[in-house]
Amino acid sequence: MSTSQPLYPSTALGKTSLIELPSQAKFDTLFLADGAGSNIDDVTKRFWIVSAFEPVTLFSAIATRTEHIGLVYTVSVSDNEPNLVARQLASLDHISHGRGGWNVVTTPGPGSLNLRVPKEEEKDSVAKAEQPLRVEQPIQGHPVIAQAGTSAEGMAFGGANADIIYCANYSIEDGQKTYHTYKSHTVAAGRKPDGLLILTDVAVVWGETQEEAERKLREVSDLWPIEVAVHNLGMGFVIGEVDLDAPFPQDYDRDAGSFRQTAERCSVGLGHRLLIGTTQSIADDLQAWIEAEATDGFAVIQPLVIDGLREFAEHIIPELQRRGLFRSEYEGKTLRENLDVPRPENYYTLLRKGAA
Ligand SMILES: Cc1cc2nc3c(=O)[nH]c(=O)nc-3n(C[C@H](O)[C@H](O)[C@H](O)COP(=O)(O)O)c2cc1C
Repeated sequence: MSTSQPLYPSTALGKTSLIELPSQAKFDTLFLADGAGSNIDDVTKRFWIVSAFEPVTLFSAIATRTEHIGLVYTVSVSDNEPNLVARQLASLDHISHGRGGWNVVTTPGPGSLNLRVPKEEEKDSVAKAEQPLRVEQPIQGHPVIAQAGTSAEGMAFGGANADIIYCANYSIEDGQKTYHTYKSHTVAAGRKPDGLLILTDVAVVWGETQEEAERKLREVSDLWPIEVAVHNLGMGFVIGEVDLDAPFPQDYDRDAGSFRQTAERCSVGLGHRLLIGTTQSIADDLQAWIEAEATDGFAVIQPLVIDGLREFAEHIIPELQRRGLFRSEYEGKTLRENLDVPRPENYYTLLRKGAA
């Protein structure tokens, strides 16, 4: 990285930490992905996932340093005991004064502990499932529910039950298909379509000019060892068995080039759509997705971590605000208020109404 031409000029946000910056930029949520740490081999032991804080512990700490931003973390229902998960989520919702959220995932395959709710005939021998939940009702009724299913069953579940869907699409056309599938499930479940927010993952690399953005992309790409980048393609490709300079065999990415380029871009964007450009071109792209009803918003991944986040806050957010596409102030106190998704009615009230 050049020192004579700083990539990241200091500004009013220059001294803000990773914890405070997203709230200053008025993001809705911080999101933590998580998963089982199985199958660590020579390649995967070099990933960040081998050393990551446990999400609810980390978010409980962050909750005490923030006021508005939502805190959505991932818990697999296959790997975690339901009563503990519910208690942790409810506790975080209280600690954060109504900003908790759960990304509900299942874990397939051998990495899963495969815990499950016991069948009726097993319940006598497995008392845990009967434990009362020893925590007050969460401030938001229950935490915001996020989901990222891609199977037909997953999409039906998300459309019927979730408040937020995270999805990874690479074209507006694919985004529109996902968007309309989910919203039709929401309507079929008797909910208003606006009660479900579709957020599409996008990895943003910003530059004053397109050339500067491309240069930053190359700098970040160079940080990925090529054997790890090839592994990240996730299709069973192994370094040594592929010709890195040959064209990539499938239409995996819009801008697929050689095998090496595709692997590097996949790694930089963590498998999600890469958006490399200037303030205008990035804002134009995001606006086009919103206007085409391909998404309701975005989960912004930062290949450049805090510097990329700072640039997004300093350049892209003000442009989106100028276009009337993004808030200038938080609307409410809880995450549900800020997302404008309904607070679920109390279970016992529903019971009294005969609706549960
Ligand atoms: C954008 C996105 C993010 C995801 N994040 C996680 C995650 O953090 N942890 C995880 O175990 N699975 C994650 N997944 C996987 C799905 O949530 C998982 O496949 C789902 O629980 C199973 O539903 P499905 O069979 O309908 O895909 C993610 C998927 C997508 C598309």
